[in-house]
Amino acid sequence: MSINRIEQTRRKLLSQGKKIINLSSGNPNEWGIFFKNKTVNSFIKKYFASSPAYEPLPFGNYGTRLSLQNFTSPPSPLAVLKGVPKKTNQIKAENIALTSGTSESYFHLFRILNGEILLPRPGYPLFNEIARLSQTNLKWYDLDPQSRWQINEANLTKNITDKTKAIVLVSPNNPTGTVLNKKSLQTVIKIAEQKNLSIISDEVFCEYFFEKGKFPHIMSLKTNVPIYTLNGISKTYALPGYKLGWIMMKNVTEETKEELERSLDALLSSNQIAQALLPVLLKNGANFIAKNTQRLKQNRQTMKDVFSQIKDLNYQPCQGGFYTFIHIKNLPTDDETFTIKLMEKTGIFVHPGYFYDYDNQGHNNKENIYIVISLLPPPAQFKKYLTQIKNFIQEVRMS
Ligand SMILES: Cc1ncc(COP(=O)(O)O)c(C=O)c1O
Repeated sequence: MSINRIEQTRRKLLSQGKKIINLSSGNPNEWGIFFKNKTVNSFIKKYFASSPAYEPLPFGNYGTRLSLQNFTSPPSPLAVLKGVPKKTNQIKAENIALTSGTSESYFHLFRILNGEILLPRPGYPLFNEIARLSQTNLKWYDLDPQSRWQINEANLTKNITDKTKAIVLVSPNNPTGTVLNKKSLQTVIKIAEQKNLSIISDEVFCEYFFEKGKFPHIMSLKTNVPIYTLNGISKTYALPGYKLGWIMMKNVTEETKEELERSLDALLSSNQIAQALLPVLLKNGANFIAKNTQRLKQNRQTMKDVFSQIKDLNYQPCQGGFYTFIHIKNLPTDDETFTIKLMEKTGIFVHPGYFYDYDNQGHNNKENIYIVISLLPPPAQFKKYLTQIKNFIQEVRMS
């Protein structure tokens, strides 16, 4: 596989001993964010001391799945509750499967749905490789820049074929930072009902929601279409290395659940320590989430303060999750060259839009540059990085 010009530059600078800051990174640990909690630490110590026997259950530990079932019912103080309030709406433990992370959840669902999958663009970059592994055909629908990257009904409908099996939603979105509103979710449900499709909703960032009101969970809306929501501990609790995710299912047939069970069984279950830890995290994680939310909100405000000073720079403030998608107009360069020159000048590496399948008519388009910025850095450093980017844009404009 050939290495693109951006990666070549990054490697060259690293080999020269230069420090590179990946300002698009959504890995909380890279930014010094770690889940530290006494209860959790003592739980892990006790767990190891008790040497529990290995139990390769395809859907994972039943008690852990039960804790997820109860977590989505009142009176949980956490944001994930919002929008899934009624006991009758509760997703039962029987309809919850533990996996080795959301990427693995995608892999199994792509396999068992066995047809074409429709994905949002701009979107999460790993889909292509997961689809190749699961031998799935992918197709894309375009999110609508005019409505803060919500669903565009005409575009979504246009891209459905007679082979399509499922529509994927990512809310909060990576990289746009958009949270799909109720109108968008209802549109997707209407189309899925008409075309007999399943919905896969990736909500890995849903605990980090910055708008007023309740987080709009698709599971809280009335429908008979099969819905799979994906979540995990890598973003919520900053524990990506523990490799634990889950799939919640609604309106899914027993036959499909059995298919999923067979697929998960082939990989002999997710990490047993992480499974045992999850109920403890659910009980003890609220303060951590609140603290992180404050940091993300502070950085969101800094971005507004610094970037509002730049001419022809548009972005929608992040509504949830870690990312913001920035649009810079009228720069005498293209996004690849912009990314390379910024890295050479400042050591700051940002992903261009085309890493997210958003090339806006080819990434040599000089009118429109898209870059992705993560809101995770420590606030003082974040302000410094944004100011460097602002100064760099001004220099490029004057050159
Ligand atoms: C939208 C989205 N889904 C899933 C993942 C991966 O989640 P996990 O670590 O649970 O595999 C990421 C990671 O960045 C992501 O951005």
